[in-house]
Amino acid sequence: MKIFNDYNLKNHNTFGINVSCKCFAEYESIEECVDFLNKLPEGEIILHVGGGSNLLFTRDFQGTILHSAVKSFEIIEETAEEATVRVGSGVIFDDFIAWALEKGLYGAENLSAIPGEVGASAVQNIGAYGVEAEQIIQAVEVYDCQAGKYEIFRHDDCRYAYRHSIFKEYPARYVVHHVQFRLKKTFVPQLQYRALQNEVVRQGFSAESITASDIRRVVTDIRNAKLPDYHVLGNGGSFFMNPIVDVAKFKSLQKEYPDMPFFETTDGVKIPAGWLIEKCGWKGRRVGNAGVYEKQALILVNYGEATGREISELSQAIQQSVLQTFGIAISSEVNIL
Ligand code: EPU
Repeated sequence: MKIFNDYNLKNHNTFGINVSCKCFAEYESIEECVDFLNKLPEGEIILHVGGGSNLLFTRDFQGTILHSAVKSFEIIEETAEEATVRVGSGVIFDDFIAWALEKGLYGAENLSAIPGEVGASAVQNIGAYGVEAEQIIQAVEVYDCQAGKYEIFRHDDCRYAYRHSIFKEYPARYVVHHVQFRLKKTFVPQLQYRALQNEVVRQGFSAESITASDIRRVVTDIRNAKLPDYHVLGNGGSFFMNPIVDVAKFKSLQKEYPDMPFFETTDGVKIPAGWLIEKCGWKGRRVGNAGVYEKQALILVNYGEATGREISELSQAIQQSVLQTFGIAISSEVNIL
């Protein structure tokens, strides 16, 4: 267990906000973590973080931050068609994809180049280019801090939805230590996301000839072209979730904005928040040290010395403006602390 007191979090949040926490504790095994938790004083405030790619700190954190350095990979079950792999929560998610492809295991490649770690992928149900983490998650192994016991959540008990899981409903309760992914031994390209399909064709691939490594490269290319590198320009990926509206609301909006992109889902119609924000005139705008990324309006950026409060205030101004213009309330995907 590595324990740091008065720890600066600037390198532990991809927004690059200069804040600190009272204590930062990194564990290499869940047993070590549980032992540490049992010794904490009653009432201590706890926060579990992954790669810090989905967090906006608006002030110093007056408690203990836990970070997993559980970094194992293991195939625990195998058939002729599929394999279940058990991966430590502290593994970088993209390293897991690279490892899986090397082993000839497929299903995660569309999620290439997303910053963050395996544990957070199961909490946040990360998604991109037509695939969500829950599609490959078989089970999530946790320690339940409230009940004081280990538990394994099967996929169907995780309450997965768009960027949502049961673990988000009880933020400090569950410590995810391993995630079990079910991957395929035969590669079938998942090309239903239009932007991915277009880029695949533009790069001269066909659905028949493309390999999983090609998909990984194409997805990485699209992301690099659209999303800022947080090492250069601090950001937390998509700041807002794409809102889902009912069909009546969608129809009335479509009458007024026939060019509005949309995706039909089982819960209603999903409208890209990036499009709504751009229409409201925010794309590329800068307010002090915070701004809206010039190539993707869903991304808020730190131009260097922004405080979390500046970014949070900008996000509220954007929410207000989208609500006034379209009558749609957009909510943040980033956790604001
Ligand atoms: N759009 C605009 N203006 C913008 C941004 C987007 O008009 O400034 C339009 C695009 O033209 C396109 C549509 O919105 O028609 C969708 O854009 P894009 O493909 O870039 O995806 P997104 O909906 O903005 C979501 C995820 C991303 C994920 C991409 C690709 C959410 C909140 N975001 O973004 O996830 O990479 O799809 O699948 O669902 C993240 O969660 O941090 C993240 C980056």
